[in-house]
Amino acid sequence: PKLSQCHNIADLRKRAKRKLPAPMFHYIDGGADDEWSMRRNTEAFDDYELMPNYLRNVDNIDLKTRVLGTELELPFFLSPTGMSRLFHHDKELGACRAADNFGTLYSLSTMATTSLEDVAAATAGPKMFQIYILKDRELTREFVQRCKTSGYQALCLTVDTPLAGNRERDLYNGMTMPPKITPRNFFSYGTSFEWLYNLTRDSDFRLANVVHRVDALDKGAMALIDYVNSQFDRTVTWEDAAWLAEQWDGPFVIKGIQSPADAQRAVEIGATALMVSNHGGRQLESAPAPVDCIAPIRDVIGNQLELIVDGGIRRGTHVIKALAQGADACSIGRPYLYGLASGGQQGVERALTLLKTEIERSLALMGVNSVTDLGPEHFKYLPQRYQ
Ligand code: FNR
Repeated sequence: PKLSQCHNIADLRKRAKRKLPAPMFHYIDGGADDEWSMRRNTEAFDDYELMPNYLRNVDNIDLKTRVLGTELELPFFLSPTGMSRLFHHDKELGACRAADNFGTLYSLSTMATTSLEDVAAATAGPKMFQIYILKDRELTREFVQRCKTSGYQALCLTVDTPLAGNRERDLYNGMTMPPKITPRNFFSYGTSFEWLYNLTRDSDFRLANVVHRVDALDKGAMALIDYVNSQFDRTVTWEDAAWLAEQWDGPFVIKGIQSPADAQRAVEIGATALMVSNHGGRQLESAPAPVDCIAPIRDVIGNQLELIVDGGIRRGTHVIKALAQGADACSIGRPYLYGLASGGQQGVERALTLLKTEIERSLALMGVNSVTDLGPEHFKYLPQRYQ
């Protein structure tokens, strides 16, 4: 479908599939092992129904959300995702400009193909930098300094990736970084004319934030899983997280938490927010769906941390269900990457428009005027009801 004929995130996914060489599409679309957690992330939302109340004057729906020290125009923002250049030459710049145009936050990954300075210069909108603690600890120290200098609002430590998850689609497709055309995957590139043509505009696939320290990728294409496992540090502990939190004055987020016990540790080391997330089902297979983790975590930490729910969100009603359960905001990964692959910055904007419109429409149909009014009275947990 054309961008204007994409009426939901699933349509954008179809369009992305047509436009991208197979290794790139499946790198976005896939998850770990049998992809149970990945599917469950979205399906878990079906265990909750929404309860409407009518005759409430729903002429003015307010989506404004305060989180991470900033006011956002939307109750969701963009999760950090690596290597956007693989999907479109607008890369991270297209995504952060789209986020800014919608008044929401953009998160930049350590593994990005645009430097954090270039992203900071591209828009004045709110930004968060996502850190992986790599074996090269000096690099982490540098990141904190660079983020302060460039004016990032928030810092986010991803903790669910001491090593790479088992993404079998990447193995079958010979997914490497930078991309490499081989006899085996030749046909999947040969049909993606536009993607190939755009290599003439920009063929720089380097990991812009780490390239000056980590030159493994310059020595030739490497399977992603091998790359991650060569650079990521499995010895990272809560002491390292506490150290990082101390270096940073602003909002400090821990991403990848599912257990209430970990949420409690995050409070103790001085985090200000959690991204309740299983990395979109790309890391531990059988990890629980984030939407099911909100209530148990809230029970333990109360209002000591902001909770951001990330994973499986494909519809406006999914955002509403997470907020009604006590999340402060949501975040999306694949939905905006399908958009980016479909049409660069414009495609990301299409994804944001679709989700925004869906949230506004559903809230009006529920008789709720503001996302901040959502609460336990607005949903039912179905498994409990049928017990
Ligand atoms: C990711 N994610 C991710 N997370 C992170 O902390 N650092 C990263 O570099 C990446 N890279 C990345 C690449 C791609 C292609 C995807 C799809 C995801 C995880 C991401 O931030 C987020 O947690 C999930 O994408 C959320 O699930 P949904 O919205 O994709 O279902």
